[in-house]
Amino acid sequence: MSYQAKFKVWRGDTEGGDLHDFTVEVNEGEVVLDIIHRLQATQAPDLAVRWNCKAGKCGSCSAEVNGRPRLLCMTRMSTFTEDEVVTVTPMRTFPVIRDLVTDVSFNYQKAREVPSFTPPVDLKPGDYRMQQADVERSQEFRKCIECFLCQNTCHVVRDHEENKHAFSGPRYLMRIAELEMHPLDVADRRELAQEDAGLGYCNITKCCTEVCPEHIKITDNALIPLKERVVDSKYDPIVWLGNKLFRR
Ligand code: SF4
Ligand code: F3S
Ligand code: FES
Repeated sequence: MSYQAKFKVWRGDTEGGDLHDFTVEVNEGEVVLDIIHRLQATQAPDLAVRWNCKAGKCGSCSAEVNGRPRLLCMTRMSTFTEDEVVTVTPMRTFPVIRDLVTDVSFNYQKAREVPSFTPPVDLKPGDYRMQQADVERSQEFRKCIECFLCQNTCHVVRDHEENKHAFSGPRYLMRIAELEMHPLDVADRRELAQEDAGLGYCNITKCCTEVCPEHIKITDNALIPLKERVVDSKYDPIVWLGNKLFRR
């Protein structure tokens, strides 16, 4: 069964833009990305959209559908009624390049600022040993597909461009937490988390967790434990050492 759907798609570039109206065919089982592709094929050949896998795994097709941050390839048209107008806009937190494509280099910059995994100098690769519980803890964080929907959603930067220099966003605070919880990592990133990555800006609204397509519990499993470690370090360095050694 197919029907004609009404779409509003943001079109523009660095100079500005606006919503354009389209009426487009929708077939059973299709997702929003299919409709954007049909628009390219039939009505708007120069419409810019970034995508790659169409399977929810590359993290490229992030945008906003009816104001909600979503992967275009994982948003089923059956979510909407046939008479509903579907509005597709680029992610709001990052500068537009063209149409639905944004410049996400903010995230790469923040990624570079996290010091990498630091094992003890005398530990040889063959000597690495980890408890299964530690493996599972970091495995959850490593499901991240770098779609940046959490970064786009967090209110600390979504409407506050001025905070961007001081806040790494949930994805990279989670990366710091992952390394901080790693039993073979000897670096101490707690001051970096608080002073440089802006952990204190996070007031645990959990909006990042709500939009994560990988269902990673960013707030509960990464940000709150990281906050606890930072507080512990401020008040009691012995507690921090205990955390490193025993509480993982
Ligand atoms: Fe996307 Fe989730 Fe990774 Fe954030 S944590 S970038 S929402 S997959
Ligand atoms: Fe932002 Fe997530 Fe914290 S949305 S405020 S980083 S809980
Ligand atoms: Fe890869 Fe959507 S196209 S996640």
